[in-house]
Amino acid sequence: MMDHPRVQACETLEELRSYIGDCQRCPLARTRTNLVFGVGSPRARLMFIGEAPGRNEDLQGEPFVGAAGKLLDELLASIGLDRSEVYIANVLKCRPPGNRDPLPEEMEQCTPFLEQQVRLVDPEVIATLGNFATRHVLKTQAGITRLRGRLFRSAGRKVVPIYHPAAALYDRTKQDVLFEDFQRLKAVLEMPAESGDVSGAQRTEARTRRSESAQPGPEQPTLF
Ligand code: URA
Repeated sequence: MMDHPRVQACETLEELRSYIGDCQRCPLARTRTNLVFGVGSPRARLMFIGEAPGRNEDLQGEPFVGAAGKLLDELLASIGLDRSEVYIANVLKCRPPGNRDPLPEEMEQCTPFLEQQVRLVDPEVIATLGNFATRHVLKTQAGITRLRGRLFRSAGRKVVPIYHPAAALYDRTKQDVLFEDFQRLKAVLEMPAESGDVSGAQRTEARTRRSESAQPGPEQPTLF
């Protein structure tokens, strides 16, 4: 991707969204209905990362609005949260035809946008939904069944892999595990900050620095 510094120069989510524009950077542009950027609080402490928009998301332009999204809303409600209080995005912004797995070249084009969303929202905790997002964020080949229930750290953020809600729709056991994992997520959100965490004062300071620096800075290291 040739325009990394320009992506990283976007100082707000709105600016990033308008920079992405009517994206034609990969062939998914030809088959998508809507680009699905992300929703939620621009200052969320908790960010969810899914794989890619599905059919309903493609039609409505919003992540997790289908049956899996309804379950996600219930899971959030179980820990006293509403989707407006968290931020939700996907690894890919456009739906792969037939919901096939994202291809490496699609991810190469799209990942800088997700990384900038993470920088801008600056969440303390990232919950990765399912195998694909978890492997991508944690750069691992390990499967979600092994990784769920564990707490990881990446670039000062806590990362909590959980099952994808779509995988639990017709599997009662997985649904129970998901509800348990949301209780853990709540506990992680309540954990006191440790040194090296992106949190509290550091987050405010980072925001202030960002709003003070009008010029694009040097290329930053990737977050994942
Ligand atoms: N599955 C995902 O991974 N993301 C969505 O937005 C919807 C379904």
